[in-house]
Order: sequence, then C-alpha cells, then structure tokens
Amino acid sequence: MLGKIALLQLTETNFMRILGIETSCDETGIAIYDDDKGIMAHRLYSQIAVHADYGGVVPELASRDHVRKTIPLIQAVLKDANLTPQDLDGVAYTAGPGLVGALLVGCSIGRSLAYGWDLPAVPVHHMEGHLLAPMLEDDAPEFPFIALLVSGGHTMLVRVEGIGQYKLLGESVDDAAGEAFDKTAKLLGLDYPGGPALAKMAESGVAGRFKLPRPMTDRPGLDFSFSGLKTAASTLVRKECLELTATELKQTHADIAHAFQQAVIDTLAIKCKRALKQENLNRLVIAGGVSANTALREKLAVTTKKLGGSVFYPRPEFCTDNGAMIAYAGLQRLKAGTNADLTFKANPRWSLESLPAI
Ligand code: KG4
Ligand code: ZN
Repeated sequence: MLGKIALLQLTETNFMRILGIETSCDETGIAIYDDDKGIMAHRLYSQIAVHADYGGVVPELASRDHVRKTIPLIQAVLKDANLTPQDLDGVAYTAGPGLVGALLVGCSIGRSLAYGWDLPAVPVHHMEGHLLAPMLEDDAPEFPFIALLVSGGHTMLVRVEGIGQYKLLGESVDDAAGEAFDKTAKLLGLDYPGGPALAKMAESGVAGRFKLPRPMTDRPGLDFSFSGLKTAASTLVRKECLELTATELKQTHADIAHAFQQAVIDTLAIKCKRALKQENLNRLVIAGGVSANTALREKLAVTTKKLGGSVFYPRPEFCTDNGAMIAYAGLQRLKAGTNADLTFKANPRWSLESLPAI
C-alpha cells in the first residue's frame, strides 16, 4: 500500500492544502492554506504579555510558551477549518532564521506531526514567508519586483525574479529598522514592542520641529545603518526632555517620535527608489512587521507612482509574524517536491540567497 507521500508523487493533484507553523520569535502563528480556497483558517497567539516586563523578547520564555501553545492552536485551526489531518497534503514550519530554541519547537512539532500523519514536511525560510505574504492578497504583484523586507531582525532590499530567485541588493550593517523603532520607543517611555506605539505617538508630533539624519543616503549603495539614528534620537531625548511640564514632555516625545519615524521612512524610500532605478523595475513589495506602518506605505506609494509603478503589501495582520505566510511559502515549496529528512533542523542564520529556485 502506498503512503500519502508516494501517492502525492503519483497523482496529478492540482489543488493542495498545507498546515503552516510559525514559531521563530514571540508569536505562535498557525494557519491552513489551500491553493484553491486560500486561507481556510488562521490563528495567532502573541507573547507580548510574557515579555513585557523585560522590555524585549526573553528567548527561553519564548521557547517555553511556544511549547505550551503550538499544539492547542493547531487543534483549534483544524477545528476552525472543519478539517482533520487526513485532509492535509503537508506540514510546513519555520526552520529559520530566528531564535534557535523557538525555531526548534516549531521544527520538532512540525516534523513529528508530518511523520505521524505520513505527510511531507516542509521547512520554510521565515523571510521567504514575509516576502511572499503579499501573494495572499487579491492585488498580488507579478515577478520580477524589488522587495523591501523590514522586520525586527532584518532590513533587506532584494531583487525577486521568482520564488527562490533572490538577489540581495542591500541590507542593514547594524540594527534592523524594526529594532531601531523598538529601541527608540523604549527611550520615549513606550512598552515593548515599541514600533506600533511609536507610530501612534508620531501622529501627534509636529513635523519639522526636530530633524534627524537619513543615514547612508549621501553615498552610493543600498545598505542601511540605523544604530546611529537611534543614538541621535537618544541624544535628542536627553537634551530636549529636561525640566518640562507633563504636557510639554508629552509633546516633545511626540515630536521626537515624528522626527525619528520620518528619518527612517525617508531613508527607506530613498534606497527603494535607488534599487528600483538600478534594477530598472517599478514594482515594489514591502513586507515584515515595519511594513504595517501606514506612513511608510503612503510614502512608498508616492515614490513608486512617480516611477510609473506601484507598491504591494500584505494586510496588516500578515505584515507581522503569522502562520499564513509560512503555509503559503510552504505550499509553493511542497509543490516543488520539498520533503525534509527525519532530523529536527533549525537554521537560526539561514541565508535567503541560498534557497533553491522553483
Ligand atoms: O516581522 P515581525 O513581526 O517580526 C520579526 O520577524 O522580527 O516584525 C516585528 C517588528 C518589531 O520591531 C515591531 O516594532 C515592528 O515590526 N513593527 C512596526 C509596526 N508594526 C510592527 N514598526 C513600525 N510601525 C509599525 N506600525
Ligand atoms: Zn518576521
């Protein structure tokens, strides 16, 4: 009798369905994606409350919480979709990059379930998941395009020719954009994760009161550096926030948040424009947590429009970490024949460019 894996290789299965598991950092994301029906169910559990007292992610606590939450969430998602494991064609899980302990939870659960259910196991690159997340939307981009990946751990500009055809054009030499948002938010007294809170605070900031640098924009190249910007913001906080009334302090914080956000956005926009021109393209994809930033989206819409193109991004809940993007990327890899061996392999420093083209 043939197992499901062998049957898959023999049958002309046009439509397939996969379970996606994301545990690379502080979110447990589970989803089921079907390439006929789309996302059939997805759930997200955020560990914000677990890490809030520490001002950042505590890796050991993250791993332990993934252990507690992953299986119940998988059960819930199967129930939401009214499916059983027999209705699936594969199990995809984030295998890197990310926190090694957190990744190992998803890898070992994902690999074991695939073994137990006699299904192919599909390790997924977290950044490929982010990069392909706009494909979950009705207005999906066509290849080739430039992708700006901006998350808590990465800032990358990539030329994307097709799935797995990635050319890294530039990246951050120090802090990632999201990391700079989080660190600056902390200086402004905001709780972890500070990116969305800083963006909210910036809304009441006065444009132009403070000006912060646009790092590495005065020289050629597509790399980024955000640690100096964070230091400049910190100097501003120390200098401008002395002996103020509560109202003045609130306004000054908002003005600094506005100046910081504007500096990051302008820097990203300058580099995106440069990358699009260099590569002679006018389609831009933005993905990763920072792509949820409304002001960034608006700026990049203007930038791409001027070049006769447009910007594509996932809906806000799929900008930050989620299981749907892992299920989608996993399904593309499954269709190309990926089936991991029986070892639990996590790759915390997995290069995007090393992925095979499909
Ligand atoms: O992609 P993601 O969920 O996790 C990683 O893979 O790192 O990105 C999280 C990052 C955090 O740094 C968070 O502060 C930032 O994305 N972020 C934002 C916004 N929403 C999330 N930064 C700026 N504005 C936002 N609206
Ligand atoms: Zn991410």
